[in-house]
Amino acid sequence: MMRQTILVGLIVICAALWGCTRKNTSAVGPTPTAFGTALVESSGGKQIGGVGTTLPQPVVVQVNDDQGNGVAGAPVEFTGPRGVSFDPASGVTDSSGQFTTNVMLGSMAGRYQLGASTHTKAQKSVDLKLEEIALGDQERLGAHLDETYCNRCHNPESTPERVSNYDNLEVKPHSFTEGDTLNKMSDADLTAIISHGGPALNKSPLMPPYGYTLKKMEIQALLAYIRMVSDPPYRPAGTYYVQK
Ligand code: HEC
Repeated sequence: MMRQTILVGLIVICAALWGCTRKNTSAVGPTPTAFGTALVESSGGKQIGGVGTTLPQPVVVQVNDDQGNGVAGAPVEFTGPRGVSFDPASGVTDSSGQFTTNVMLGSMAGRYQLGASTHTKAQKSVDLKLEEIALGDQERLGAHLDETYCNRCHNPESTPERVSNYDNLEVKPHSFTEGDTLNKMSDADLTAIISHGGPALNKSPLMPPYGYTLKKMEIQALLAYIRMVSDPPYRPAGTYYVQK
């Protein structure tokens, strides 16, 4: 009985200590040992993921000094709109001056603006903004249909599963992220060319009609997807900003 009580007591004390240590490390994190003057994106911006999922690639930023060299041990902090989480949200740069975080998007479809910041020795804040895209169910369906029907012509790059037909096409289609072209087309025009093919807009018949293959809601899903991924953005609605 006595032995049991002591054991339980020990477990409770260990748990309490463990809880405290964990809390302390996550709240304070490693202490910065150096400071830079600039913050740049290394990779991971403009990714496309599903709502509530972790982006396929981590986001990597770099703290630089006045000469553009990476600074190791500099502080970095990430902030995002409600529902976005970072693993980790803050810390210090590695030996090459970089800081890496995994980003989980919120539950709303749209563009998410993320903020990264560091500060100089004089406590002056240096900020960087990044943007990521979260696809909802409708846009996810659109992405799937794109992969099934459109990508082989509209994406110039081949993958192990799919050889691109792009180079064989006399008239070159655009990638759906090319907002400079696609943003100028109205919803009605997009629906017309997807349903009835290129000739519907006096364009090349190399763009086939999909009105018999796809349901109306599938064409709408493609439209929603094309609008969501365009760069520059089609329209700012559905943009979620960093909460300070
Ligand atoms: C066999 C190749 C091919 C496939 C498959 C294809 N397209 Fe196209 N598409 C074209 C070509 C070629 C053009 C350019 C026509 C022109 O500019 O005259 C085009 C043009 C377009 C345009 C006008 C903007 C642009 O890129 O110039 C849209 C929108 C479009 N396609 C959507 C789709 C969608 C959505 C799908 C899948 C459901 C699809 N296309 C599948 C070849 C294709």
